[in-house]
Amino acid sequence: MYSSSILSLLFVCIFSLLILHGVSTGFEVGDGITKGWEVPALKHPKVYNDWAEKNRFKVNDTLHFKYKKDSVMVVTDSEYSKCGSPQPLFFANTGDTTFVLDRPGLFYFVSGVAGHCQRGQKMIVKVLDVESPPQQSGDDTAAPDTDKKSDASRNTNAIIGGFIILLIVVGLNIIGFLV
Ligand SMILES: *[C@@H]1O[C@H](CO)[C@@H](O)[C@H](O)[C@H]1NC(C)=O
Repeated sequence: MYSSSILSLLFVCIFSLLILHGVSTGFEVGDGITKGWEVPALKHPKVYNDWAEKNRFKVNDTLHFKYKKDSVMVVTDSEYSKCGSPQPLFFANTGDTTFVLDRPGLFYFVSGVAGHCQRGQKMIVKVLDVESPPQQSGDDTAAPDTDKKSDASRNTNAIIGGFIILLIVVGLNIIGFLV
């Protein structure tokens, strides 16, 4: 009885911590299906939207794009349909881009390389709005230097995650000794 109430308390604490901190998830774009961000195979032109539909994205989750001689752009709905933008909301061509999904709603990703988007290198990501109401600040999509910040936040989350696991292990051991 005594130990099970300690256990319950421990879990309540852990879940409160998780909820308060809003642990974010890092996604590898095309994970397990493509070799990163590239022109899809002819027989599977919708590979990125299929991948995105299989995942649930929340605010502050990150997308990691790995690519060669290519680029990542975030564009508007209509630019997505046209596969082009004179002034993308976000642009990166470093080959390694971490993008923070910093608001709920839709993000439109396309390749900036001529012809690639037309061949299916594009993706719509829907970010769920569970914890906070939608923000009406449409155009403040991450600037290129947000990349570093997101890595930092992912590391923080990893540290907190590790700490929580440690807490569980230590907690279970203490309970083990008490019983
Ligand atoms: C997302 O991250 C920002 C900056 O770290 C933070 O202020 C905000 O509360 C976070 N939002 C959610 C829903 O976790």
